[in-house]
Amino acid sequence: MPVLDALESLAELAPIGADDVRGGWSRHLLDDADRQMRAWFVRAASSLGLDVEEDANANQWATWAPAGAEGPAVATGSHLDSVPGGGPLDGPLGVVSALAAVSRLIAEGHAPAHPIRIANFAEEEGARFGVPCLGSQLLAGDIDTDRVRGLTDASGATYVDAMTAAGLDPAAIGRDASRLEDMALYLELHVEQGRQLAPLEAPVGIATSILAHGRWRVTVTGRGDHAGATELDSRRDPMLVAAATVEAARGRALAAAPPTRSRATVGKLQVVPGGSNAIASEVRLWIDARAEHDADVRVLVARIVSDAEAAARAEGCELTVAEESFSTRVEFDPELADRIGAALAPTFGEVPRIPTGAGHDAGILAAHLPTAMLFVRNPDGVSHSPHEGASDADIRAGVDALTDALRALTGDR
Ligand code: GLV
Ligand code: MN
Ligand code: MN
Repeated sequence: MPVLDALESLAELAPIGADDVRGGWSRHLLDDADRQMRAWFVRAASSLGLDVEEDANANQWATWAPAGAEGPAVATGSHLDSVPGGGPLDGPLGVVSALAAVSRLIAEGHAPAHPIRIANFAEEEGARFGVPCLGSQLLAGDIDTDRVRGLTDASGATYVDAMTAAGLDPAAIGRDASRLEDMALYLELHVEQGRQLAPLEAPVGIATSILAHGRWRVTVTGRGDHAGATELDSRRDPMLVAAATVEAARGRALAAAPPTRSRATVGKLQVVPGGSNAIASEVRLWIDARAEHDADVRVLVARIVSDAEAAARAEGCELTVAEESFSTRVEFDPELADRIGAALAPTFGEVPRIPTGAGHDAGILAAHLPTAMLFVRNPDGVSHSPHEGASDADIRAGVDALTDALRALTGDR
């Protein structure tokens, strides 16, 4: 059986979803690029002799269960979708590294006591339907299925439309108890997001926790009018309210952090009608807020919204806020982290334990089964950007680490 090389696999994936307009890669749930990524997953996993399936929630799975491998699987993997104009590694690195690690275990004649199952989780970034970790949340039963079916994308297509067009049954989505119970643990490898490993001169790290985080959609309605003919004192311009909200996000997060590690960002804005010579009638913007604990995020968002409401009153605009997602703080399983640290020690010595501010499917699953993450050093720390990267040597080190971890976690018969 051939050994799958992670770097070659990333090179094969590089043309898929390359975004000529934004730069980087845009691969969104069940669009053309995502379907090509999913087809690649089926081909790559099948070429290794793994059993490939797609579940009712559009997650893909590839299982290695040789004779004698019994009980719930040791699960690994990540996601193949991206943010708009994202980097090459978040999250394909985790998927190709998982395939590479399993191919090496097969090639070396490892006889696992438990199956290994590789996941490609659907819509991890929430770039199409606004809710991150949609596939893992559905699997875990953490999100209302009627709400999901009603989600719409930027073109107005619903989740039901997207699933139906892909030949999937939107009526079947939701908690998948048997699949959850058939996982003993989940270990996700991911490119580091932030720059903690470089100063420690460590190629890999083990995750400790994820900041609490969420997304809020703010809609500001004013009065559309002519940019030249409308006196300044008679305008109701929602753009001013949007600008005040962006300022409030930075100012309120700065005032709170430290010690709450608060951060707030407005990275997405829709202006209606969007003419350069028209005062907007409506502006929609999205606040991404994160902090150490759930309550810190709630306080931060309440302060930003209160500032935004004051700006709306001053400008004679209406303002509404809708929570699109909330992910509670995650603590990864310390015992599993210790087992992984021990498995890595012969090659990597003491592996640093680091927290992260980025969300992951592993964070969703952490509420349901023992979960851990491995991070691969990112020299600049940049992510959700075309400039995200890791050196070839570190990508290889990540595969080594995941192979060692999976070998140890599945035991030898
Ligand atoms: C996902 O990468 C997130 O943290 O938003
Ligand atoms: Mn991401
Ligand atoms: Mn990711």
